[in-house]
Amino acid sequence: MCPPICLKGVIMPLQCLTGFHDIYGDKARLFNKAESTAREVFRNFGFEEIKTPILEKKELFARALGSETDVVQKEMYGFLDRSKVSVALRPEGTAGVVRAYLENNFDKTKGLAKFYYMGPMFRSERPQAGRLRQFHQIGAEQLGTDSPYADAETIHCLAVFLERVGVGDYKIKLNNLGTFEERDIYSKAIHQYLMDHHDLLCEDCKSRYRRKNFLRILDCKNEVCRNVIRKGPVISDILTTKSRDYFTQVKMALDGAHIKYNEDPFLIRGLDYYTKTVFEVTHPKLGAQDAVAAGGRYDGLIESFGGPKAGAVGFALGVERLLMCMVGAYCNTPLHENSFFIVALGEAAFREAFKLLSELRQKGVKASMDFSTKSMKSQMRSADKSQSRYAIILGEDELKKKSVVLKDMRDGSQKELSLDNLITTLKVLV
Ligand code: HAM
Repeated sequence: MCPPICLKGVIMPLQCLTGFHDIYGDKARLFNKAESTAREVFRNFGFEEIKTPILEKKELFARALGSETDVVQKEMYGFLDRSKVSVALRPEGTAGVVRAYLENNFDKTKGLAKFYYMGPMFRSERPQAGRLRQFHQIGAEQLGTDSPYADAETIHCLAVFLERVGVGDYKIKLNNLGTFEERDIYSKAIHQYLMDHHDLLCEDCKSRYRRKNFLRILDCKNEVCRNVIRKGPVISDILTTKSRDYFTQVKMALDGAHIKYNEDPFLIRGLDYYTKTVFEVTHPKLGAQDAVAAGGRYDGLIESFGGPKAGAVGFALGVERLLMCMVGAYCNTPLHENSFFIVALGEAAFREAFKLLSELRQKGVKASMDFSTKSMKSQMRSADKSQSRYAIILGEDELKKKSVVLKDMRDGSQKELSLDNLITTLKVLV
């Protein structure tokens, strides 16, 4: 057995790592609501679930996200495993989905594949409100499509999901990053421009500049940097007609689906794989880290993994940030609206009550009991706390009469019910 961590004879409690959190209570309930709603909505949009490993070869992420990105350079949990293979905890879901698409030959068997996923991601960022080291994403990807309608469909799916979980007050920012070639030309123009304004940039941006990560500077939240950037060149100036037309079609499709968005010519994503359409969804409840979801098209990624020349588009939303937006939307809903709490007085009644509890659960009815106390008063207090709709009271008198008292916790009314066929009687109520 490991010895307890001891400091001058005091046993120190063990704590979670910084930036890692336990999820329980209301948060866990909202979390489940988000996941079950996502499953329902994504299935309606034709996506099927995929679960990829949490641990992958480190090279996968370096190749997909870009070896010079902040995520790969500074934030990845990478290490050598026992066989000296360089591995990393996944910082995002897209790279693994693209690997799985090719490894399982979906490019040949399916052509177009539509996947959704949910699970933990890891980034060793400086922890702050809304920025965790282990966080959860729900994402959706369409692989094997070049259609602008797929971009609009992806954004529509995200919008429908947000509405369904009661998060209405969001804003969608949209931009067109063009092709890799167009982005390269733009990156050179930005480089030239920033050369003359380098001294004004924040330390992070100076470091991005040194690492030739010029486009990432456009995404800096520092007001001084933003001022410099606003006066610089914009990508739309260098886009070809083909790229502009593509973006116009995406916007027309979004208009057709009645989705509101704002164009933001400086929206740049922190990962290198993006081409053409990119988007970010922000919410006023989120403060400085205000993106609840983000995504876009990544037309070069499948090919760069050795697959066919095929386009792809997707998004991921941060579940912890989503929950911050959902609070309020669900908090007042009674959680156990149609359920029973069984209160028993005396040994024999307790035994009978336990039998009833087991039978109700066996039949799929939500029911609970407090085993830790014997007094009527404290059991009724537990019934209250459980937010059950009904209390079933079983004392020695009731046991003799082969009956129970059913109390409606909403209005306090009571009635006596026979123990015979009780389950059938109760099932009618829920
Ligand atoms: P991302 O913008 O890096 O994109 O992350 C998507 C969302 O994950 C963010 O908008 C945010 O809500 C959440 N998130 C990211 N980092 C953290 C963190 N440290 N703490 C809490 N939440 C966080 C991607 O990951 C892309 N794979 C999205 C995508 C899918 N693009 C195409 N397909």
